[in-house]
Amino acid sequence: MVWNKKLIACSESETITVGEKLGKVLKSSDIVLLTGELGAGKTTFVKGIAMGMGISDAVKSPTFTLAREYGTPTLKLYHLDLYRIEVKDFNVIEDYFDGTGIVAVEWGEGILPYISSSYVRVGLFYLDMTVRMIEIMVCCNGDDCELLRRVKVAFER
Ligand SMILES: Nc1ncnc2c1ncn2[C@@H]1O[C@H](COP(=O)(O)OP(=O)(O)OP(=O)(O)O)[C@@H](O)[C@H]1O
Ligand SMILES: [Mg+2]
Repeated sequence: MVWNKKLIACSESETITVGEKLGKVLKSSDIVLLTGELGAGKTTFVKGIAMGMGISDAVKSPTFTLAREYGTPTLKLYHLDLYRIEVKDFNVIEDYFDGTGIVAVEWGEGILPYISSSYVRVGLFYLDMTVRMIEIMVCCNGDDCELLRRVKVAFER
């Protein structure tokens, strides 16, 4: 089952605000896949997720590092960027999906065959220099989609 919601963000800070709303309802082991062309705002959105989780660390693009880890041992955010990685071998990043933290993955479509749980997909579309369309999707695996209930609370008010 898939649920989706489309929003318009007219500035970088509006995209952060949308990410923040999502970050507030996420729990350890939730997976967020971010899609969108170069510069669409994926990293910006993850900054919002971190803020919503109450993480104050400065979120930077993990493009050259593959992954960055934020938060505390009890509330972690794993931020991955698979732009330069072929996910033929999921083993390389598997540990981040061990349920100990929220995983936000830029350029992450390649890992879809390896995901068996419900997940959030965030599509960012460039409309103008400062305007983006943001599509939030919840893809449910199994009948009881607890993740969907949380995301709906965040976006259907
Ligand atoms: N509405 C907006 N939402 C997000 N970013 C915006 C917006 N308007 C302008 N920007 C600018 O677009 C850029 C988005 O960069 P960001 O690193 O978040 O993109 P990205 O999708 O992660 O790129 P990459 O594919 O290189 O990782 C930033 O420079 C930001 O200031
Ligand atoms: Mg990025």
